[in-house]
Amino acid sequence: MTDMKPIQVGLLGIGTVGSGSFQVLQRNQEEIRRRAGRGIEITMVADLDSARARHIVGPQVQVVSDARAVIANPQIDIVIELIGGCGVAKALVLEAIAAGKHVVTANKALLAQHGDEIFAAASAKGVMVAFEAAVAGGIPIIKALREGLTANRIQWIAGIINGTTNFILSEMRDKGLDFDVVLKEAQRLGYAESDPSFDIEGVDAAHKLTLLSAIAFGIPVQFDRAYVEGITQLGAADIKYAGQLGYRIKLLGITKRQHNGVELRVHPCLVPAKRLIAHVEGAMNAVLVQGDAVGTTLYYGKGAGAEPTASAVIADLVDVTRLHTADPQHRVPHLAFQPDALSDLPVLPMSEVITSYYLRLRVADQAGVLAQVTGLLANAGISIDAVLQRQADEVGGAAAASTDVIILTHDTREGGMNAVLAQMQALPAVLEPITRIRKEELS
Ligand code: HSE
Repeated sequence: MTDMKPIQVGLLGIGTVGSGSFQVLQRNQEEIRRRAGRGIEITMVADLDSARARHIVGPQVQVVSDARAVIANPQIDIVIELIGGCGVAKALVLEAIAAGKHVVTANKALLAQHGDEIFAAASAKGVMVAFEAAVAGGIPIIKALREGLTANRIQWIAGIINGTTNFILSEMRDKGLDFDVVLKEAQRLGYAESDPSFDIEGVDAAHKLTLLSAIAFGIPVQFDRAYVEGITQLGAADIKYAGQLGYRIKLLGITKRQHNGVELRVHPCLVPAKRLIAHVEGAMNAVLVQGDAVGTTLYYGKGAGAEPTASAVIADLVDVTRLHTADPQHRVPHLAFQPDALSDLPVLPMSEVITSYYLRLRVADQAGVLAQVTGLLANAGISIDAVLQRQADEVGGAAAASTDVIILTHDTREGGMNAVLAQMQALPAVLEPITRIRKEELS
């Protein structure tokens, strides 16, 4: 078996992850050959900057500027797509599949939006599309969900799956820094997407969550149904009050099975400080998975960076190499469930989501105001978990004229909460727009 000639791989795009993959594959080639049963070699690289590509890969590897030359090469069995985005990358992935190549990709945006089309094309052609690197970088969460947890009926997943926003929230909390300052630092460290709005607006996390949800519940990928809210509106006061109440604020991707559908949502979230996931700091990622048999499992590691992401790319290369000659029927399905056994369980609108809330109201400091506010919650059948009031001098409001009231609720339906929030906002004693942040106990 190990005498077989190495499988040949073509790489499209040799940026940070591409060069990391090339280097790790070279450095660990002997271990990888022993694991895969044959050698795995990147023999051809396409990059628009062919001089830079040549500098990275040296003289032994064929370097071209035209990605289609890689796809057209009959010696190449696996194409790694590391271009990113949904433009040329989509066309090249579909062309590679049509040419009978297996594809390894880190492109979460592409799979979250066009995964159904790409997986269908790959199944029809009998080739694999592997995407461990698309979600949470070096954490083998796709492998865990598709294979390790395959006995379970998954109940929910909650993850910190964007390093940039976790880094920003950690720095804001620990060092009291402003959002803009920390974002620049995250960009400098290379965590951020080329368009950082994808990070801070929650889009990158939603791309990844869409893939996790599809694999967990056996539903099609439906990025367009995801609720997406980023961290740009979060204030230092809320991070501080959350701390005083025993919580930390994280940008979570949450997908949960309800009796009538699946929740699919990314938003800032209060998490109890006593949970392990609340202590995931900096650019690290972590994913909690709740299965009916296994209970709660937690996966933690680097969600970005050259070598952590290369670790996932190469794991896919090894998987594809091992299964290259296997009957396609015997491979693990792309989305974990057999393509003809996907469920039509709908993605629920946000108004149907069940969660609890942190509310912060800047109110006039007068008799009866708290009773008015809590009365609205009581009328709607929303139960209060905790109330905190801060005096004007503590909140920096006009002396003795206003105060911050913070309310934590128990679980309720988001649609009902929206109606109560509109009523609260209309109270004359409520002086500023109400801050609402969702809260998950993750128990
Ligand atoms: N921009 C992403 C992050 C990189 O911050 O996590 C990995 O997908």
